[in-house]
Amino acid sequence: VLNPSDFKVADLSLAEFGRKEITLAEHEMPGLMAIRKEYAASQPLAGARIMGSLHMTVQTAVLIETLVALGAEVRWVSCNIFSTQDHAAAAVAVGPNGTPDSPQGIPVFAWKGETLEEYWWCTEQALTWPNTPTGGPNMILDDGGDATLLVHKGVEYEKAGKVPSVDTAENDEHRVILQLLNRTITEGSQKWTKLASEIRGVTEETTTGVHRLYEMHRDGTLLFPAINVNDAVTKSKFDNKYGCRHSLIDGINRATDVLIGGKTAVVCGYGDVGKGCAESLRGQGARVIITEIDPICALQAAMDGFQVTTLDEVIDKGDIFVTTTGNKDIIMAADMAKMKHQAIIGNIGHFDNEIDMAGLAQIPGIVKDEVKPQVHTWTFPDGKVLIVLSEGRLLNLGNATGHPSFVMSNSFADQTLAQIELFTKPAEYPTDVYVLPKHLDEKVARLHLDALGVKLTELRPEQADYIGVKVEGPYKPDHYRY
Ligand code: NAI
Repeated sequence: VLNPSDFKVADLSLAEFGRKEITLAEHEMPGLMAIRKEYAASQPLAGARIMGSLHMTVQTAVLIETLVALGAEVRWVSCNIFSTQDHAAAAVAVGPNGTPDSPQGIPVFAWKGETLEEYWWCTEQALTWPNTPTGGPNMILDDGGDATLLVHKGVEYEKAGKVPSVDTAENDEHRVILQLLNRTITEGSQKWTKLASEIRGVTEETTTGVHRLYEMHRDGTLLFPAINVNDAVTKSKFDNKYGCRHSLIDGINRATDVLIGGKTAVVCGYGDVGKGCAESLRGQGARVIITEIDPICALQAAMDGFQVTTLDEVIDKGDIFVTTTGNKDIIMAADMAKMKHQAIIGNIGHFDNEIDMAGLAQIPGIVKDEVKPQVHTWTFPDGKVLIVLSEGRLLNLGNATGHPSFVMSNSFADQTLAQIELFTKPAEYPTDVYVLPKHLDEKVARLHLDALGVKLTELRPEQADYIGVKVEGPYKPDHYRY
C-alpha cells in the first residue's frame, strides 16, 4: 500500500475512469505492449529507480506501467502545471490492483493546475527516494529538462558553496527554483551531489530539453550521459508532427469551439511541430501563414503552398496565432496590441516564454477575465478582446489531452528502449549526448506496422548488397533525414 505522504494527486476517486481509459489506450499503444511482452522474462530494468518528469496523461500511465513491468521502480511528476489528466494520475497512484482506499500503485505527484511552487515541490518529491543510499533515483526520464536542471543546479551551487540570492531571480519561476535550492542546500551540504553521483543517465523527450543537454555538454557541465530521444526519427518526425497535427486543433476546439475554416491562422515556426500545426489548420480550411527565421524551413513552407512572411505583416490580419518555435519572445505585448478583436493566441512550444504574458499584463488598463480554466480574455481599454489559451503554456496539453495514444506509443517505445540502453550498458555510454541507435529506431517503427495493416516489402539479398545495407537493416545511413 502506498504511504499517503508518498504521492499527491487531485482525487483518487477518479481512478476507475482513469483505468478504463488506460485499458483503451493499451490497445492503441502496440509498441509499448510488444516491449512489455518481449522483456517480461528478462526484466532489464530490475534495479532501476526511474524518476520521470513528463506530462501525467493516460498515455504516460501506459509508459509508467511498462517501465514497472520491465522491473523498474518509478516516481513521477508532470513537466507542466496544466498538463496532468487527473484521472490518469489517480489510476497510476491506485494501480491496477489497488482501490482508492488502499492505493497500491506508483508515487505520483501531479494534478492539473499546480502553482509554480507546487510544481517544483512535486519535482523535488519525485527526486527524493526513501530508503536508498543516495536518497535519489539512478535514472531520469525527462521532458523539457526540468528534473535534469534541478539536479545540475543543485550540484553547481553545492560546489560553489552557495546558492544565489532569491533577489537575483530573472522571473517568477527562477525565483521558485532558487527558493527550493536555498531551502535544500545548507552549508557544506552534499544532498544534490550525492544524489547525482548514482544517476546513470537521462533520456530526454523534447526538442527544448535536448537543446539544454547539448548546451551543458558543450560547456562541460553535463554530469551523466543522456539519450536524445527527441531526435529518434520515430519520435520527432511522428510525435512532433502528427501528434501536433491532431492535438493543436483539439486544443483550439475545446477551448473556443470557433470555426477554423475560412479564418487566417498564423503559425510561427515551421519545424516538426509547425509542419503538423500548419497541416491541421489547413485541413480545417484555414488560410495558413508561416513565419520562419531559417531559410530552409521557410522554403519548405513555401513549397508546401503556404505564404511565408513576417509577423509584422500579418499581425492585424490573423484570427488565430500559434507559436511553435521553442524560442522566446515570439509574440510580444506590442504585437498583441495590434491584433484584431477576438484574435486567439496560443503556444504549443515547450515553455511559456514564446508569448509575452508578463508584458500583456502590464498594458495600462488591460483586464484579464477567466472564461473557463485555461481560457482567458484580455480586454484592452478600447474594448478590444484577445483570447489567450493556457496562459501561454502548451495549449494542446492545457486545453486538450495532448497527443493520442498511437503516436505516443512510438515516442514512449523510444523512451523505454533508451532507458534500457543507458541502464544496462553504462560502459557503452560515457558522459555525452547520444541518439538512439538506428536499429532501435527502425524496431519501434516496425512494432507499429501491423496495427495499421502495413505490409512491408522484404529486401532481397542482392538488392541489399546493391544499396549496401543488411537485409535486416539499418536501411539508412545516420545522416539520412527522412
Ligand atoms: P524545430 O527546431 O524543429 O522547429 C522550431 C522552428 O522554429 C525552427 O524551424 C526554427 O527555425 C523556428 N524559429 C526559431 N525562432 C523563430 C522565430 N523567432 N520566428 C519564427 N520561427 C522561428 O523544433 P520542434 O521539434 O518543432 O519543436 C518546437 C517546440 O515544440 C519545442 O519547444 C519542443 O520542445 C516543443 N514540442 C511540443 C510538443 C507538444 O506536444 N506541445 C511536442 C513536441 C515538441
